[in-house]
Amino acid sequence: MENKHILLGITGSIAAYKACSIVSTLTKKGYAVDIILTRHASAFIGSLSLAAISHRDVFVDEFDGTHESLIPHIELARRADLCVIAPADANILAKAAHGIADDLLSSCLLACTCPMLAAPAMNVHMFENAATQANISTLKSRGWSFVDPESGMLACAEVGKGRLADPEVIVAAIEARLEEEEKKKTQDLPLSGKRVLVSAGPTQEALDPVRFLSNHSSGKQGFAIAKAARALGADVTLAAGPVSLETPEGVERINYVSARDLEAVMKENAPKADFVIMAAAVADYRFAEQFDQKMKKSGDSMTFTLVRNPDILEGLGKVKRDDQVLCGFAMETENLEQNARKKMLSKNCDLLVANNLRTEGAGFQGDTNIVTLMTPETNTHLGLQSKEELGKTILLTMLEIQKGKTSHASVH
Ligand code: CTP
Repeated sequence: MENKHILLGITGSIAAYKACSIVSTLTKKGYAVDIILTRHASAFIGSLSLAAISHRDVFVDEFDGTHESLIPHIELARRADLCVIAPADANILAKAAHGIADDLLSSCLLACTCPMLAAPAMNVHMFENAATQANISTLKSRGWSFVDPESGMLACAEVGKGRLADPEVIVAAIEARLEEEEKKKTQDLPLSGKRVLVSAGPTQEALDPVRFLSNHSSGKQGFAIAKAARALGADVTLAAGPVSLETPEGVERINYVSARDLEAVMKENAPKADFVIMAAAVADYRFAEQFDQKMKKSGDSMTFTLVRNPDILEGLGKVKRDDQVLCGFAMETENLEQNARKKMLSKNCDLLVANNLRTEGAGFQGDTNIVTLMTPETNTHLGLQSKEELGKTILLTMLEIQKGKTSHASVH
C-alpha cells in the first residue's frame, strides 16, 4: 500500500486538530497525504503544522495562486487512491450529497473517481437531523464508507453521538478500504484466488564472515514472475536471495541467503501454494566447515571440502499435492533439451523452463530470455521476450496444467 495517495479533506470542527494524528500515522506508514483545509477548518488548525507533518503542500483555497498546478482540484482528485474527509462536518456532507462545488474541497469531491470515506463530527442534533441522515444515506448508496462518530460529551457541552472517531479507528478504516479496493481490482483476473510461491536469485554459502560461494544469478527472472503473478491477480510470496531488486508491489517478500535457508522458506510456504516455481539458482554444494573468524592465508594453496546441499526442487516434487503445479528451471551450457528433460522427470516437475546460458538474449543478467518450455509430454520453443512476458507465459501455462489435472481428477 506504500506510495498510495490519500487525499484528506479537513472541515470546520473542533476535532480538526485530531487530523494531525491521522496525517502523522499515515505519513509514517509511507502514504503520500495531500491535504485540503476548508476555510472554516483553517480557523481551528494551521496549515503549517499539517505541511510539516505531511512533508507536503497543504491546499486551502482554490485560487490562492501559490500552487504550481493550475487546476488543483482536478490534479488532487486525479492522483488520489482514496479520498478521506475527517472530520466531516454537516456542511460538506450536504454539499457532497447535492453536488455543490463552491470551494476547493467540494469541487475536488465532485472530480474524484476514487473511493470515498468520511468520518463525521458535529453536534448530536445536527448529526441526527433528518437532512444529515438523508445526505449520509445518499452518499452510502453511492459507495461512500463512513466511520461513525462516537457518543460522549461534545464540545458544545451536550452529550450524544457526534464526537469524531479515534484517529486509530479512522486509520484502520482507511487501510481496510484501500485493501478492499486492491482486492476488487484483482477479483476477475486469471489467477485471482491462486497462491503463487516463487524463488529468485542466487544462494550464498558462507566460508567465513567475509567470503562465500555463489553464482551470477541476478534474480530478475524470478522477480519478473512474481510481478506478473501479482498482475494476473494471484497472492504472491517471493523467496528472494541476496539481490538488490525492488519488491514488486503487492508481493510478500521473504529473504534468504543460503540454500538451507531457502529450503526452510520453501518447505514452510509450499504446502499452501497452488503454483510453486523454483527460479532460484541454488548452489549444489556448501563448505563442509564454516569459520566464525576471517580465515588467514597460509601456504601457497588451500583445499576446502564441499558437501552436498539439499535438492530443494526434488524435495518439493516428492511432496507435491495432486492439484499443485511445480515448475523448475534448468540452466545449461550444452545438451540443453536432453539435460533439462532429465531434470524435469527426476524432480517430478509439471513444467520446466530450460535456457542455454550461451544463447544471446538469454541468461542471468539481461531483461530478456529465450527458453524452451517443457512438460512431460511437450516441448515449446519460445522466441526472445522480456522476462516479465515470459513470467506471464509460464504462469498461464501452469494454470492450464492445473485445469488439466483437476478435470482429469474429476473424470476418474
Ligand atoms: N535446484 C534446487 N536445489 C538444488 C539445485 C537446484 O532446488 N540444490 C533447482 C533449481 O532452482 C532449478 C532446478 O533445480 O529449478 C535445476 O537447477 P540446475 O542448477 O539447472 O540443475 P541441478 O539440478 O543443480 O543440476 P546440475 O547442476 O548438475 O546441472
